[in-house]
Amino acid sequence: MEVKAYERVADKIRQVIEEGSINPGDILPSERQTAERYGVSRSTVRRAWRDLESMGYIVWADQSSPTVVGPSAWPHKVERSSMGRVSSTSQPGFLSDLMQAAVSPARYNFEIGMPDPDLLPVADFQRIMHELFSYPSRDVFGYSPTTGLTRVRQALREEYLARRQFEPGMDQILVTAGSLQGLDLLTRLWVKPGDVVITENPTFAGALHVFRAHGAQIVGIPIDAEGMQVDLLETAARRGHRPKFVYVQPIAQNPTGVSLSPVRRRLLLEWANHSGIPIIEDDAYGFLADHPPLAATPGAMVVYLNTLSKILSPGIRVGCLVAPPDLIRQLVSLKQLSDLHTSTLSQLVAEGWLRMGDVDTHISRARAIYASRLKTALKVLETTRVLTPFTKAGLGFYLFTRLETDASANYLHQEGSHQDLLFAPGEPFGAGPSDFRQWIRIAVGAQPTAQIETGLRRLARLVEHHT
Ligand SMILES: Cc1ncc(COP(=O)(O)O)c(C=O)c1O
Repeated sequence: MEVKAYERVADKIRQVIEEGSINPGDILPSERQTAERYGVSRSTVRRAWRDLESMGYIVWADQSSPTVVGPSAWPHKVERSSMGRVSSTSQPGFLSDLMQAAVSPARYNFEIGMPDPDLLPVADFQRIMHELFSYPSRDVFGYSPTTGLTRVRQALREEYLARRQFEPGMDQILVTAGSLQGLDLLTRLWVKPGDVVITENPTFAGALHVFRAHGAQIVGIPIDAEGMQVDLLETAARRGHRPKFVYVQPIAQNPTGVSLSPVRRRLLLEWANHSGIPIIEDDAYGFLADHPPLAATPGAMVVYLNTLSKILSPGIRVGCLVAPPDLIRQLVSLKQLSDLHTSTLSQLVAEGWLRMGDVDTHISRARAIYASRLKTALKVLETTRVLTPFTKAGLGFYLFTRLETDASANYLHQEGSHQDLLFAPGEPFGAGPSDFRQWIRIAVGAQPTAQIETGLRRLARLVEHHT
């Protein structure tokens, strides 16, 4: 296999680290110096650094030179696995940053997309847990079937999916550890390195990370106020050989909040059936809308993903995947390679909540809260000319905004973190490496109104300062 320029550079640096000429704690020479030394471009140097980071040799925060941390103390030489190689293009550091933001004490935290902590039904959880302790302990703390407990799949079907006007057969439902696991399993099953997958552009960075980690080539279809421009699919499919699937979030997509219009929903379904290329529908924010998912259309070529992460709690890690039974059987075998089954305790807590009879009230409250937060955030942004939202008519937790400045979003992200202010740079949401370099994602779902007002003003000042 051909060795790429960045791999050559990474291998040279790695050799120097392994020989002990550079030690843990040392800072590597700058991007410019490294580029000159190896006769490559600066972007090749950055890819080489990402490669070394994914293999554990360095840590690298953008804007500075990396610090050496390796080589690993383990006796086996670190190999550049296919995972390591592809993750060098998929910004693994970004997701680590995002997950760290979930526990950050920062005062203004617009980085991670979480439900409002005040919506978490803590008292209900207490009651449910208390009751679980009266069950035979094996039923709560023991192993359980890989597909998910029957009673839990039933509750998901009757109390959650049915509210989305979608009632698949019980043998079509797999309980997953969050919807990202479902996406990973599907990608592992269907994608080999070099295969093409089609996504909206921009789209959920976690999905892009999964696709790239499996070696997929991403073809991004631009979105506008009506969602993915599905009329471009045919050309994209022809250009990209035969894509393995189209990944789409039809409702309140992350990061823009845009939903697919009724006409485009129909066209997308027709295209999938006609081309035989399946759709993976991510319905994480579906609870914000009244219309059913694409997967509820009879005969639709759609594998469906949902999660309780955005409506209830991301920490319990309960999601589901809906697909034809033969596909479910294959995915079950793959899931057994990673976690045997989704946590029995988490599944039962989720079931307890779904069966409490409060889901409708919870959904109405959630919709009202998120709509009001977006409205507040948009109002603040109207007072500044440095942040332009992708749309003012979105739903959900996020505002994707263009920076009307030359400063890089990655740089502002770092600066913000020194000022108690977190948000997500836009680049990792792009199908192409620099599609959204001048964009940032602001998550308002978990921030009270007052925090949104003061935090976004602070953000606007930060951007203005670097204009
Ligand atoms: C569109 C979308 N899908 C999936 C996920 C991941 O969800 P889970 O916690 O269920 O893995 C997220 C989280 O941000 C998301 O925005």
